[in-house]
Amino acid sequence: MNKADVLIIGSGVAALQLAKRLGDDKNVIVITKSFLKNGNSNLAQGGVAAAIGESDHPESHFADTLEAGRFHNESATVLAVTREAPELIEELWAEGCRFDTDEKGRMLLGMEGAHREHRIVHGGGDATGQQIMKHLASVSVGKFVVIENIFVFELIMDPSGQCIGAKGKKADGHVESFLADHVVLATGGCGQLYSHTSNAETVSGDGIALAYKAGAEVVDMEFIQFHPTLLYLDGKTHGLISEAVRGEGGRLVTEKGEPIMEDVHPMGDLAPRHIVAQTIYEYLRKGTQVFLDVSLIENFAVRFPTVTTLCEKNHVDWKKQIPVAPGSHFLMGGVKTDLIGRTSTKGLYAIGEVACTGLHGANRLASNSLLEGLFMGKKLAEWINESGGRSGLNPQSNEWCKLHEMETVHSRNGIKSRDHPEDRCPLNGTNNCNIRLPKVKDLQQSMMDNVGIVRSEEGLARQKQWLEGFQIDEWMKTDLDHLTIEEITRVFMLITSWLITESALKRTESRGGHFRSDYPCEKNNDWMGRKIIHKRNGNN
Ligand code: SIN
Repeated sequence: MNKADVLIIGSGVAALQLAKRLGDDKNVIVITKSFLKNGNSNLAQGGVAAAIGESDHPESHFADTLEAGRFHNESATVLAVTREAPELIEELWAEGCRFDTDEKGRMLLGMEGAHREHRIVHGGGDATGQQIMKHLASVSVGKFVVIENIFVFELIMDPSGQCIGAKGKKADGHVESFLADHVVLATGGCGQLYSHTSNAETVSGDGIALAYKAGAEVVDMEFIQFHPTLLYLDGKTHGLISEAVRGEGGRLVTEKGEPIMEDVHPMGDLAPRHIVAQTIYEYLRKGTQVFLDVSLIENFAVRFPTVTTLCEKNHVDWKKQIPVAPGSHFLMGGVKTDLIGRTSTKGLYAIGEVACTGLHGANRLASNSLLEGLFMGKKLAEWINESGGRSGLNPQSNEWCKLHEMETVHSRNGIKSRDHPEDRCPLNGTNNCNIRLPKVKDLQQSMMDNVGIVRSEEGLARQKQWLEGFQIDEWMKTDLDHLTIEEITRVFMLITSWLITESALKRTESRGGHFRSDYPCEKNNDWMGRKIIHKRNGNN
């Protein structure tokens, strides 16, 4: 049995910022399903948006965030985050986190889509996420215990409905329980629900499914951001080509070199992401390949070493043209939280992409995600530090005893998961197990086709029916202890896909990352500010 004051599930920028800032008197455990630096934060290229340029102001950053988010944002959240952004950058800089500077030591500020100012702080050229992760991990050495390769499959609730811990499973099926005063989801988004994605392989919506299954509110799930430019070869995507490439002068063109964005939006290649993604999607649908032309960018390989390596690894000559297609990139919705990461469930917190603070509205402004992770990690740490209190769990309490007893039984029996098909079925309790779960590839392709960049009632209804054919209601109620990690992953993908599909079906308008071909306009009167919230009622 593991006990902590703060249990952090996930290990990206938000998680490490929280761990770094928690008081030394706090006992902190970070658990991750793979290893510490494997996740989306580490892959983030563009940077962190902050109004620190001479002609810039947080109010401008605020306005750009609302405009990109199609005014679906929580404006108080946007105000707080954009105001604090310069300070968050200064703090990292003062601690020794290195961002790119000019010869006079002034921070270089990049440009990205839908920003009216140069305000993208970057590090290592286009390796900003990696740079920040390395920094946070090094300055928080000794502040937390990290346990890698444990997959959290259940949140532990006490009889009053408060979250008091989590159960995790190792590859060999061994189950471990963790109890904590504060249980924090920092598990990232759900890019892997789609066949085309920029996301790390591990990012498949676990945190959303865990929270929903435990009864927490989940909101805005229809808003998925598709990044316009992933490297695209042989019908498959192969990783991100940063938007900062267009910020430095990269242009989207056809094979013949004709620009595709000029007549579409006044900001051209730097239009908001949903506009650019939808435009490229239309070209591809009609059979016309789209390319990034980077010939106007000086010192491309120095400014974009990650993109250069990606192209070279895939035998693409970036000096000519880079073939691109859109893919799922970011979930604007998630587990509903307030400004310090508290969810609707006591004891449970969510920070980073898994959370929905309302910052991003219907479409996230580029480089606002690392920023949100830094902000939320800091705010939650401050709140936990101030609210004080070590673990209130009494080693003799009922919950503690029950869990301890359960672990002892698990260890005695040796087998912790349904290693053999003839073991008892988690759904029907018999030896005759007929678990039906979708194949991962089928789920990803059908989500791309039906709940992707362009949606319609017909496709969404078809997808909903298909997902519901896999006994979703049953999985919501079922203990997953006896399933393998691979099976649980598919259960979670199923639940999270269903939440997205159901919300997308309900929202009969187009807004930001949610585009309906049957309702192509924003319906300001009917839908402005209206949120679709899901909460399990116990029966489903
Ligand atoms: C990018 O570099 O294009 C991604 C940055 C982001 O999603 O904010």
